[in-house]
Amino acid sequence: MLDELLDSRLIFVTGKGGVGKSTVTAALARALSRLERRTLVLETDTFSAMEDLFDYSSPGLEPEEINEYLYASNLTAEECFIATLRRFVPSDRIARAVIKNRIARVFFRAAPSVNEVTILDQVRSFFEKTDEDGEPFFDHILVDLPASGHAVTFLNVPATMNQMMRGIGPIAKMSAKVADLISDPQTTSIIAVCLPEEMPVNETIELADNIAETLGRPLDLAIANMVHQSPLSDGDRKVFEELHGHIRDKYPDVESLFFEAEDERTESTAIARLVEGNALALGWFDRDREYLDLLYERLSAPIVEVPIIYESSGVDVVEKLGRIFLDHSADAASLSA
Ligand SMILES: Nc1ncnc2c1ncn2[C@@H]1O[C@H](COP(=O)(O)OP(=O)(O)O)[C@@H](O)[C@H]1O
Ligand SMILES: [Mg+2]
Repeated sequence: MLDELLDSRLIFVTGKGGVGKSTVTAALARALSRLERRTLVLETDTFSAMEDLFDYSSPGLEPEEINEYLYASNLTAEECFIATLRRFVPSDRIARAVIKNRIARVFFRAAPSVNEVTILDQVRSFFEKTDEDGEPFFDHILVDLPASGHAVTFLNVPATMNQMMRGIGPIAKMSAKVADLISDPQTTSIIAVCLPEEMPVNETIELADNIAETLGRPLDLAIANMVHQSPLSDGDRKVFEELHGHIRDKYPDVESLFFEAEDERTESTAIARLVEGNALALGWFDRDREYLDLLYERLSAPIVEVPIIYESSGVDVVEKLGRIFLDHSADAASLSA
């Protein structure tokens, strides 16, 4: 799946809060940076998730170098607003004076979509940043889109803004440039992260339709995160289920033994835990498959399943997921060869 993203310079990651959107974004960035692609991760929330996931602290708009190939920055609305103004007025001092002005402040706060446009314009500015040879500075920019609100509405703001202004004036021109970038499937990918659960799966199916309809381009990839793996192979499962049936017939209290207090555990609780634990895990696996089947059936975008990782820290989850993404990459194989 990483290989499909290698041509995308700009990658927007969407998903409802709690599905692991920031974790997946960070893991993708880790994987791309391991392929020696200079990768920038951008987030737009007031509280940075990346600071924890990459163990760094964001001093402001300027991307912080985490390592040679990995950069991160948190785009706060205020900083982006100043940066955008700065492109229209001659000095930083004047830009800051404008936004400190009470009347200007009220005006901009009241104006619709100012935040979205200035944040996305900042993304564009990083996208266009070049190195000393005039080559793009960042090979990939990943944007962890805000969890609240609709990603499609957010991404459609520049196009709407440009239409509203009939393409006239500097803000319309700026918006048009950003809108072109977002609608171009050659340079830009949109990824949706979801869980193998009813609501998130249905929302992802709707999102794909909405992206096609509103943005006139496809959803490129869905990532089903935290998928439970089967503890047994298909063959072993058959044997296990037969055995499980026998045990339940013979020892009807086997299920309650599973919940025995720790200090009361005996050999038979250990066996009960082994048996019932596997039965439980198979149940989780089956339930996930049900929603994944629905996703495969209804979504035309490719789907990548990401396993649930049993690690205590977010950094460790990112590390493990990054490795999984790399393992599926042909480029990684050639790099280590
Ligand atoms: N594949 C996974 N396996 C296990 N835990 C995960 C996985 N993906 C995310 N998590 C955990 O889920 C929680 C929410 O993740 P986060 O990336 O902050 O979600 P979001 O950005 O969608 O709100 C975190 O504790 C994170 O470590
Ligand atoms: Mg997040």
